[in-house]
Amino acid sequence: MYVKIILICAVALFAAGGWFEQSLLDRARQKLEPLPDDAPALSDNPSSAAKVELGKMLFFDPRLSSSWTISCNSCHNLGLGGVDRRETSLGHGWQKGSRNSPTVFNAVFHEMQFWDGRAKNLRQQVKGPVQSAIEMNNTPERVVQTLKSMPGYVERFTAAFPEDANPVSFDNVAMAIEVFEATLLTPDSRFDRFLKGDESALNEQEKRGLTLFLSKDCVSCHKGVNLGGASFHKFGAARKPGSDLRPPDDRGLMNITGAPLDEYVFRAPTLRNVELTAPYFHSGRVWDLRQAVATMASVQLDAKLRDRDIDDLTAFLRTLTGVLPRIEYPVLPMHTAETPRPDAK
Ligand code: HEC
Ligand code: HEC
Repeated sequence: MYVKIILICAVALFAAGGWFEQSLLDRARQKLEPLPDDAPALSDNPSSAAKVELGKMLFFDPRLSSSWTISCNSCHNLGLGGVDRRETSLGHGWQKGSRNSPTVFNAVFHEMQFWDGRAKNLRQQVKGPVQSAIEMNNTPERVVQTLKSMPGYVERFTAAFPEDANPVSFDNVAMAIEVFEATLLTPDSRFDRFLKGDESALNEQEKRGLTLFLSKDCVSCHKGVNLGGASFHKFGAARKPGSDLRPPDDRGLMNITGAPLDEYVFRAPTLRNVELTAPYFHSGRVWDLRQAVATMASVQLDAKLRDRDIDDLTAFLRTLTGVLPRIEYPVLPMHTAETPRPDAK
């Protein structure tokens, strides 16, 4: 008799345990999606092997900058999680920018680009840094002149844009880089494996972290396939962050819209690969992921989390590191007598 009761209890407990796990997976699936393995199709910019290869060359070519020193990879280093691991980036003439460099990995899934979302997509985004005086300090005309001066590039542009009568153009630079960036995906993180149904992919602590991520509503802002990159929120929705973390002169979205309600509003960044992308926040002032999590709990949610909860959430965030693509460094065409020389100023 007692044995029977114990057996029934054990079965009931086991079933309840199973239900709980199932429901964590179900709840996670309602708000979050696994990262696809393949590059998504881009509107009006079909991919081809020639275009991806050209985009890769341009991404690594420092001659897109007037000094021949700074490439996209300088600030979005593909060996460093797609970032420069600096508080804020260093650009032309060692000038320091005002914001931390976000990762280019998985950026194709963002609904808007930049901390303030001012570019709609990757192809629009590219044109910013090339022309920015504190980043690559170049002009579209000089970029095109530089590329046209090298037969190796002319050939590649012609192969990548076969329908285009004028293949070497600033627009096509952006199109090729966009197609390359769309291949910069980091699938198969442990969290992705969990979402696809492998419940053993996360350990108990990480599951507690995920439970908190859902129940404390981190997921209301860090949502979708990138756990972020999809919506705007005030940095300091619940409590004002210190002025070291939120420098008063960067008003975020308000810089663009002028609307007082947009003051200090920023796009929630992706949390994929976040353990590789320190330092954190648009100001890049926080180097420790645990401290970034504690800051979020306080300034976004006004939640008093126990040390153990912060540890669990941080452990969960570390399961978002995917498999980084292996990228072969491209050999770039030799310049010619016609190539504008680097501007050393
Ligand atoms: C001098 C450093 C620097 C260089 C060079 C640079 N970037 Fe960036 N990049 C940044 C910074 C800083 C931001 C964030 C700026 C902001 O939000 O206002 C950024 C933002 C981005 C974003 C948006 C990501 C997101 O999550 O919103 C993408 C994509 C990107 N850069 C790609 C590129 C490409 C492609 C190039 C080369 C054409 C390039 N960058 C050159 C520093 C740089
Ligand atoms: C109300 C929306 C909101 C909520 C809720 C929220 N976040 Fe954030 N999160 C943001 C925004 C916006 C930023 C960018 C702030 C900035 O730098 O201006 C951010 C930044 C971060 C960063 C830094 C990422 C980086 O690359 O710089 C981490 C880590 C983070 N959040 C984790 C969490 C966790 C964990 C929770 C739950 C405890 C949480 N967030 C809750 C909106 C939110």
